[in-house]
Amino acid sequence: MQPTYLVLFIILSIFIFIFALAYIFSTLVEVHTFLKTKVPYVPTSRRELKSILAQCAICPKDNFVDLGSGDGRAVFLAAKIGALASGFELDLWNHFLAKTKKVLMRSHTNFFRKDFLKENLGKFTVIYAYLMPETVAVLEKKFIAECNPETMAILRQFPFPNLLPTQIFQPRKTKIYVYKK
Ligand SMILES: C[S@@+](CC[C@H](N)C(=O)[O-])C[C@H]1O[C@@H](n2cnc3c(N)ncnc32)[C@H](O)[C@@H]1O
Repeated sequence: MQPTYLVLFIILSIFIFIFALAYIFSTLVEVHTFLKTKVPYVPTSRRELKSILAQCAICPKDNFVDLGSGDGRAVFLAAKIGALASGFELDLWNHFLAKTKKVLMRSHTNFFRKDFLKENLGKFTVIYAYLMPETVAVLEKKFIAECNPETMAILRQFPFPNLLPTQIFQPRKTKIYVYKK
């Protein structure tokens, strides 16, 4: 093998090795988080999120939070509108991705690697959550106990078990449930 090809081969191998390591690491971390939260990481598409934020009229005076914010995409979109925007995420890899994007995009967002079930949600005016039914049921109790009457909760796919939604719409294949207390 010619020296140039050998160098190219080594560089390519290093890239593939780093990529494979990152992939394995992120998968292991996601499995670990899933065992704790019982909620898998399934992102909402940016296109759908844009429709959701527009339909719910999110505006600069809102204090938006994504509960289980994944890679932070909903938080960045809310911040782009001008809202104060935060995300809680337990998964280490997704939290790292969100924090990295925050720096690269110079975005004024807040990301916390915390269990949102242990946080008081009273200061937020808009809550977005894409979770599983069991966690949604616990969130419903927190929404009733901690949030102001003007606070809007936007749930993707799995509705609160008791409260009646004020609005249901379907921007793509999945239903979105909107609640005010
Ligand atoms: C279905 S994903 C949705 C991600 C993002 N909200 C989106 O729509 O693209 C749910 C996320 O919630 C996170 N999660 C579940 N329970 C959590 C908890 N109690 N505290 C913080 N994050 C949690 C999971 O780690 C997962 O990344």
